[in-house]
Amino acid sequence: GATVTATERSNKRSTGGFVDEMRAVAMKMHTKDQSKEGEKKTEGTPWPKWEPTIDGYLKFLVDSKHVYDTFDKILDHANFPEYAEFRNTGLERAGNLTKDLAWFKEEGHSIPEPLSPGIDYSLYIEELSKKDPQAFICHFYNTYFAHTAGGRMIGRKVSAKILNGKELEFYKWDGDLPQLLQNVRDKLNKVAQDWTRDEKNHCLEETEKSFKFNSEILHLILA
Ligand code: HEM
Repeated sequence: GATVTATERSNKRSTGGFVDEMRAVAMKMHTKDQSKEGEKKTEGTPWPKWEPTIDGYLKFLVDSKHVYDTFDKILDHANFPEYAEFRNTGLERAGNLTKDLAWFKEEGHSIPEPLSPGIDYSLYIEELSKKDPQAFICHFYNTYFAHTAGGRMIGRKVSAKILNGKELEFYKWDGDLPQLLQNVRDKLNKVAQDWTRDEKNHCLEETEKSFKFNSEILHLILA
């Protein structure tokens, strides 16, 4: 229901707003090996057993940068005024990824071109952003927040296995990450206050697509 109880609010995860619903839907979309809140069956290799390669990881970083560049462009352009709320949140990743790719290059690796997972996702959100702000904002939330949660765990694990534990810039934020995330949750709650129940449901229903595209990009790590 729409009523948030005192117990739910005292849970540190609860914001008392629409983000709680976005997170609940996203957590159920995980496979059971990814999160204990996950409800989907694992297909293929469970993530704790992933064997990353540098080539695969570079593909993942390049496609991620392509997608984060697209988000920056969409938010700058702001076809819908609410997009402007999500500019310069401190969660931007494209600049840090540029530094990481430069580092790999210095180390003697050649940097690949973006592949279809990143290209297709970028085209998809670009088109969506022009006509469907609720669905677009679902992708914004899932992509940026996934990276700060599971994405960081994956980064640590991959680094321990193939990069001697080097911490990439992709996993560093200027300032206090929990506070940056909270600021964005507040903005999401504020923007969603103007949405009808149907528009909110439409936003939540887009979560599945966000998982599909983002999972394909993550799986480049194994390519
Ligand atoms: C949160 C793991 C893929 C979206 C989480 C959490 C875990 C996790 C453990 C909970 C973190 C916490 O509450 O402290 C993973 C793993 C993945 C994966 C291991 C893949 C191997 C994805 C994908 C998406 C996604 C593909 C969709 C784009 C999210 C979101 C949250 C989350 C939106 C909520 C973050 C928040 O509350 O701030 N993930 N995840 N995850 N994940 Fe994933």
